[in-house]
Parts: sequence; C-alpha cells; structure tokens
Amino acid sequence: MKVVVSIGGSVLVPEPGGDRVAEHAAVIEELISEGCRIGAVVGGGGVAREYISAARELGANEIELDQLGIDVTRLNARLLIAALSEESVTAPALDYEEASEALRRDDICIMGGVAPAQTTDAVGAALAEYIDADLLVYATSVPGVYSDDPNENDDATKYDHLSATELVDVIAGLEMNAGASAPVDLLAAKIIERSGMRTIVLDGTDPDRIARAVRHGDHEGTDVIPDGAGEEPTYWANDEQ
Ligand code: UTP
Repeated sequence: MKVVVSIGGSVLVPEPGGDRVAEHAAVIEELISEGCRIGAVVGGGGVAREYISAARELGANEIELDQLGIDVTRLNARLLIAALSEESVTAPALDYEEASEALRRDDICIMGGVAPAQTTDAVGAALAEYIDADLLVYATSVPGVYSDDPNENDDATKYDHLSATELVDVIAGLEMNAGASAPVDLLAAKIIERSGMRTIVLDGTDPDRIARAVRHGDHEGTDVIPDGAGEEPTYWANDEQ
C-alpha cells in the first residue's frame, strides 16, 4: 500500500524540540516495516509564520515570503529525516520526480514545499496523485473538516464523510469566510477531486492516530471518498482490527 502523509508543521514541531518528531518517525518506520511505502510531506508551522511575518515587516514581497516558507518546510523535513533510519532519503525531495524516484528505490521519501503560491496541503495531494497512492492522510491539529471554524462558531459540525466535490464546496465556503481556517486548502481539495484520491483528514497530534487510520481505516476525522475512488484498500480488509 502506498500512502502519502501530510504532516502540518504545527503538528510535527509544536514547539522547539524533537520529541514529537521522534514519535512521528517511529510510526512511519512501523508502517514501513509492515509493508507500506510512505511519502511524507512536512509543513512549516509556527516557525514559518514567524519568519514570514518578520520578513514581511522587512519589506519582502509575497513570492519571497513563499520561498522563505518553503525553506522552513524543508528545515522541518530535515528534522524528520534526522529522526528516521538510513532507509530514509538524506535530504528533502525538491520535486515530485525526485520524490517518486526515492519511493521506487524503496526509500522513505520526505518533502517540504515545492513552489510559491501554495501550501504543503497541495504538495501532499499532488504527490499522492503523482505516485498513484492508495491513500492520502492529512495529519492536522484539528479533528477533521468542519462546516465552519470550530474555534469561532460553536455550531460548527464535523463531517464524518464527504465526497471530493463536497470537500471542494465546503473549503471554498470556509475560504470565503475571512479569518476562518480550513484544515486543507482549496487547491489541495481540487487536486483530490480531479485525482479521485481517497483521503483522510484527522487530528495527527498523536501519531498513533495516523497509524490506526493507515492500518485499519479507523479514525475519528473526516473521510473524503471521491466518486470512483474504488474499493477500500485491500490492506484494511486483510488486517486484524
Ligand atoms: P505550510 O504548508 O506549512 O502552510 O507552508 P500553512 O498552511 O501556513 O501551514 P499550517 O498548516 O498552518 O502549518 C508554509 C508557507 O510556505 C509557503 C507558503 O507561504 C506557506 O504559507 N509554501 C509552502 C509555498 O509557497 N509553497 C509550497 O509548496 C509550500
């Protein structure tokens, strides 16, 4: 089974230090030892936001800020690489071809951002499409996709299941609502829709939740099942719960 795990920077590095990184690396290695092939995409988190805001005050333009953000995602990716065994790549893949080649060599493939004007949400979806993954998992700091920002609106409800078209509609609605934050951005939702990629959005602060979702399809987040996504990964059916 080929899986892309997109780990938010604030999930992997919520504060300076390597504890959470080591836990995520251990889960990735466990899944690999069970026969999964994993591509991990790492976000920038609070450190990226701090650097971007400092550089904005210094007069950097938006593309320069994006490049800075990409550099921070790659720094976080290097932290994950530092915690992984020698089966991992030695540096973050800079594009999808490099990432795919690493997977073909059976290396654990790690990436940060790739190009300005997007986020690693879109990178995760594009990598999943490029390598024809069986599953894409977004490990975010929120429990799933909500009808509204749950931090702002007590009536916001979590979706257990969405089609990809519904995901695009929900995210487009959230992005229209200034200040509301969506766990996955619109470009990522559109890539999921066009690729028909089976996707799970979950709270990945405890990496065991990622492992359970990959192993059994068992989670408390949101399942995005595009039309024509096909049967559930056979891996789930063959595994003891
Ligand atoms: P993130 O993917 O971490 O963005 O990339 P985010 O949505 O702000 O992060 P979380 O979910 O809150 O942790 C950080 C920044 O890096 C740039 C963007 O400026 C983004 O905001 N970036 C990242 C790119 O320009 N291109 C990429 O491919 C990835």
